[in-house]
Amino acid sequence: MSKPFYITTPIYYVNDRPHIGHAYTTIAADMMARFHRIAGREAFFLTGTDEHGTKIAEAAEAAGVSEIEFCDGNVAKFKDVWTKLDIKYDYFVRTTSERHLEAVRKILDVMREAKSDDGQEVVYSDFYEGLYCKGCEKFMTEKELVDGKCSDHQTVPEKVKEKNYFFRLTAFLPTIKEKIESGELQILPDERRREVLGLLNQDLPDFSLSRERVKWGVPLTFDPSQVAYVWIDALSNYISAIGYADNETEFKKWWYDSEVVHLMAKDILKFHCLYWPAMLMAAGLPLPEKMFLHGYFTVNGTKMSKSLGNFIDPVDMIEEFGSDSTRYLLLTQYPFGLDGDIQANRFVIQYNSDLANDLGNLVSRVGKMIAVNFNGKMPSPSSGLAGMQDLMKLTERAPGEAYEHVKHFRLSHAIATGLNLVKAANKFFDETKPWVLAREGKTKELGGVLYACCEVLRIVSILLYPVMPNKMSELRKMLSLDDSTLTLDHAATFFDQAVGATIDVSEPLFPRKDVKKKTEAKAKPAKSKQVNDDNLIDISDFGKVKLKVAVVLSAEKVEGADRLLKLQIDAGKGKKQIVAGIAEHYTPEQIVGKKVIVVANLKPAVIRGIESNGMLLAAKKGKKLFVVTPDGDLPPGAGVS
Ligand code: MSP
Repeated sequence: MSKPFYITTPIYYVNDRPHIGHAYTTIAADMMARFHRIAGREAFFLTGTDEHGTKIAEAAEAAGVSEIEFCDGNVAKFKDVWTKLDIKYDYFVRTTSERHLEAVRKILDVMREAKSDDGQEVVYSDFYEGLYCKGCEKFMTEKELVDGKCSDHQTVPEKVKEKNYFFRLTAFLPTIKEKIESGELQILPDERRREVLGLLNQDLPDFSLSRERVKWGVPLTFDPSQVAYVWIDALSNYISAIGYADNETEFKKWWYDSEVVHLMAKDILKFHCLYWPAMLMAAGLPLPEKMFLHGYFTVNGTKMSKSLGNFIDPVDMIEEFGSDSTRYLLLTQYPFGLDGDIQANRFVIQYNSDLANDLGNLVSRVGKMIAVNFNGKMPSPSSGLAGMQDLMKLTERAPGEAYEHVKHFRLSHAIATGLNLVKAANKFFDETKPWVLAREGKTKELGGVLYACCEVLRIVSILLYPVMPNKMSELRKMLSLDDSTLTLDHAATFFDQAVGATIDVSEPLFPRKDVKKKTEAKAKPAKSKQVNDDNLIDISDFGKVKLKVAVVLSAEKVEGADRLLKLQIDAGKGKKQIVAGIAEHYTPEQIVGKKVIVVANLKPAVIRGIESNGMLLAAKKGKKLFVVTPDGDLPPGAGVS
């Protein structure tokens, strides 16, 4: 009997709502947990939210609510999307929960007492020196400053020296290297392992384990004037959730006696592959067995972003395709593990080809022939049909192959194994021509062909269940199968269905989608997404827009564009160019010298070949447009909130 399987996703930051990147990792983990379960293994699947730190406190402030209210709101959004996507986690960890806090306090205490192999204290106090902006309440790097000033507050940050506690990472690095090299700690895929070993060859410093000025965090047990560094807090979720501080039996089972797998993308490699093993060693705990770091994806060939119009909201995708097809489409875009591209503009085409045509069509053509020729009851199997041996061999090999793929994180391959069976059964159907057998009254052969196809469908309903749990359960209902046979063992035997069982496919499993309609809808996202008075946004969305007072330094008409003026403005950081559609309402002379309000954090856009770095606010009365001006003598760069 294999040992239990414990899989985790990163805990996601709650300063924003869930996006398709979070969904990708979470669906993958869900598929793996479900696959191991149908293979007879006990599995525990953990996900959750990372809720402390300055970024979240700032987002809460911008939204005008308390930190915890803000977190509660976004946690609900995460949970809601996971429910909509049929994510069956065993536990949802929140870093603000008392259970988690207790575990963080415990690991802090243990690490504080710990000594490294050479007898030095693992946690030591030292001074941290940096540039601190009082307005932002945070340390800033030289790179973040503009002309030596904080761009938000126009102030020179103070040089500050604060007492910090440090974690002696350097003491653990040689052992971590040994464990990775020996395979005791598996970093997968191999490219990521090499990346970690590369990092280990550099001079990595100890890291600061606490922050004095951050307020939204877990106070250190041994010095409550400081809070734990967010990564110390966040990484501890993997043990807090399984009883590190409050349930010895559960903790032993899932941490000591299981195959522990941390799943994530490559963006958080250093924290997981170096900091976390070091923390665990300091706390005297065993290391996880595997870390799998999949790639990062782009959408339609570019980095996903709201302004480029290629941002996919998981909720929109579920509304369009349903949960199962969303899961399927996301995991089959490119090989799991690599960097890749999500071809959202081809979703409908792929849905129609794989799900409606291949799988859906097999179900419906087989079911319809059983309805017409066998009164909707499963006919008897028959041996000796042309092509049947090949189909059976392929089918019998599939479960083992698919499971091997899953064990090695080749999720897209595992899914393809199921879909290849569907294609083979469609080919078998076409070649044995059951409609001719029916016409010629060859009932025995006809029944044999249909029985064999139903067997393939039954096995596919098991193999594709982990990625499409609902649709495969629906398919099983159509075949009169219950959950007791939803196991990989049952997928390994042919001739397992009861003769005479009801086969009912009256509803299409994957109705075809209209390609044209969807393409047109996709072509005009900006219009359909326009915000009007009834279309409410979250306050956190508003918080993302930075509005500033600016003065117009100069203005000129844009040749060939009656509506546009090219403006040079000062929004507090020197000269900036914007293109504004106000030429029909203001002459250059009328606008120069005016104080206006601009959106200062827009990505640059090119309008009529001219770069524009912002937008100014204007209001309309009838056909006349008025620029919005501040009431009061405000300097350029003053923030508008
Ligand atoms: N809170 C930390 C993790 C702490 S774990 C102890 C964090 N959160 S996050 O919200 O930024 O989530 C990062 C994770 O989201 C990635 O590791 C990956 O799992 C997922 N992804 C986000 N965008 C993605 C892509 N574009 N492509 C692939 N994965 C994506 O980091």
